[in-house]
Amino acid sequence: MQKHNKDAMIDVSKIKQDFPLFKRKINGKRIVYLDSTASSLKPKKVIDAVNGYYKRYTANVFRSIYKTSEEATAKYEQAREYVADFIHAKNTSEIVFTRNTDESLSLLVYSWLPYHVRQGDVLVTSILEHHANFVPWQQYALKNKCDFRIWNADRNGILSLEAIEKLVSKRTKLFTFTAASNVLGTLPPVKKIIEKVKEMNPLCLTVVDAAQAVPHLPVDVENWGADVVAFSGHKMMAPSGIGVLWAKEQLLEEMPPFLFGGDMIKEVHEKTTVFNDIPHKFEAGTPFIEGAIGLGAAVEYLSALGMRHVREHEKKIVSYALDQLTKIPGLTMYGPADPDIRGGVVAFQMKGIHPHDIAQVLDEDNICIRVGYHCAMPLHEYLAIGPTCRASFYVYNDTKDVDALAEGLKKVKKMFE
Ligand code: ALA
Repeated sequence: MQKHNKDAMIDVSKIKQDFPLFKRKINGKRIVYLDSTASSLKPKKVIDAVNGYYKRYTANVFRSIYKTSEEATAKYEQAREYVADFIHAKNTSEIVFTRNTDESLSLLVYSWLPYHVRQGDVLVTSILEHHANFVPWQQYALKNKCDFRIWNADRNGILSLEAIEKLVSKRTKLFTFTAASNVLGTLPPVKKIIEKVKEMNPLCLTVVDAAQAVPHLPVDVENWGADVVAFSGHKMMAPSGIGVLWAKEQLLEEMPPFLFGGDMIKEVHEKTTVFNDIPHKFEAGTPFIEGAIGLGAAVEYLSALGMRHVREHEKKIVSYALDQLTKIPGLTMYGPADPDIRGGVVAFQMKGIHPHDIAQVLDEDNICIRVGYHCAMPLHEYLAIGPTCRASFYVYNDTKDVDALAEGLKKVKKMFE
């Protein structure tokens, strides 16, 4: 892998040059991309890695002994090594490639829950969750008459550690939460939460939705101490359609596969099948080869920047954004004011103006934000706030992008006054 340049600071003007989309102008205006929480942009390095597979060594993986197929297999497995290294997994066998976070989490509904969770057992998730980490457990609980409990937060998304004592008992089989809220930006103390849950019930499965964490901050899954961690490639500069499920080796060994077919087997006979070793047991069929290769390149790119620097940069940008947006009369922001416990996400509303109108006016100046419920309807309902606007930042955003947003919002305000 490319050598980590841990001392390099973030130079956004240089970074912007790595992203071809920033060269594009629409109606003569630059693009101000503030929607990385939905999907990040892709650097040339990732695009070249994907193109390289298409142009130079397109072939299936694990199946053939000619050179291009071996090259494809090597690159696919190298990506797994990069990912393992990036999140400090003990072993590459702990890295399962899936389609996305939703699939990684839903896999548990088929491969873990039916073997461990019975009628009357308790499944806990937090109110901050994206639907990916809410609906699977809710649906399982409804079907199997389990007790689906919600870990509520305060209005800034701060979850109380004491509440865990009431939520976790011997009957609690699964406890899951996000490492970074995709609406409020709140960063729960993952390690402390896991410790507390395990203290209450060492057998309770702890699951972390890290879709908004792995792209933005240093993650060490061993240090977190969770049993399962899930995330997606497309939010961390890789193609859409590649995701990761990390779980401890023993857990993966114990779980049966949930997709059957090619490549996940060692032997198939008329009456029996011997499944492949982990992680391949969970990767049925031809995988998204170029997606994994792109993810490997994305990990290389982020590692070269240094995740510590990525996090520091986002902290500065979000502080600046909070300062600037506070000055706009009638604008309400959600989430913690302290950038130490907040990722690069700002959800907001403007008094008397519908979020869709705001986004539409911003789009006139190519300012890209997301509006709606951000796949987190229960949270919006809990806060009783209706749909919100959301600006989100990444390592390629600078204060000029925030200024453009602030100017855009002033324009919106004038138009609707
Ligand atoms: N999960 C993505 C978001 O928060 C799509 O926007």
